[in-house]
Amino acid sequence: MYLLVLYYSRHGATRKLAQLIAEGAEQAGMEARLRTVPTVSPDCEKTQPSVPNDGDIYCTREDLADCAGLALGSPTRFGNMAAPLKYFLDGTAGEWVNGSLVGKPAGAFTSTGSMHGGQETTLLSMMLPLLHHGMVMVGVPYTEEALNSTRSGGTPYGPSHSAFSRDAEISAEERQICLSFGKRLAHIARKLASVD
Ligand SMILES: Cc1cc2nc3c(=O)[nH]c(=O)nc-3n(C[C@H](O)[C@H](O)[C@H](O)COP(=O)(O)O)c2cc1C
Repeated sequence: MYLLVLYYSRHGATRKLAQLIAEGAEQAGMEARLRTVPTVSPDCEKTQPSVPNDGDIYCTREDLADCAGLALGSPTRFGNMAAPLKYFLDGTAGEWVNGSLVGKPAGAFTSTGSMHGGQETTLLSMMLPLLHHGMVMVGVPYTEEALNSTRSGGTPYGPSHSAFSRDAEISAEERQICLSFGKRLAHIARKLASVD
């Protein structure tokens, strides 16, 4: 049983959130599988290596179909998820037909350049395909203290980071929200797996 932490990240901020969410799941005793997706290119002659040169490996159909729960992450692109992640999701009709993800918990996380640059809309945009897949949405409850005290990222719709600049550190509250989100997904995945 594992939590799939599936993300796209161009400059590394979303990847940092993914790593913290994975750490949270592992603190809750569940294996976390970190996976990414290739970029998409308008040049149809340009191909990606089948395995990335560095970082996490690309997600396979089996990684997705067999997960006990899913954390899905993307940088905000014009208030929406980034095209590479959308492209990957658009290739999951087979999982939709098979109902492989029905009844499993899922949630979203994002990084934006600015404070009010569309974190919530991006998180909601990622939830739409997950709902079509029959997944059970998991957010961040306000019983998570850091959600009340954060002055940067962190939303009830999912963990987030306000980057402002490329080298921005993840704040203590953003970090705490990621860790607790990973734990929460792991706990719920375990509970739902025991429900027929
Ligand atoms: C094409 C494009 C569109 C973007 N749109 C937004 C946006 O709507 N709002 C925002 O706050 N930041 C926006 N950004 C900034 C990224 O969301 C931000 O730099 C993010 O932290 C990058 O995450 P990464 O380090 O995981 O790639 C955009 C960046 C690009 C390249």
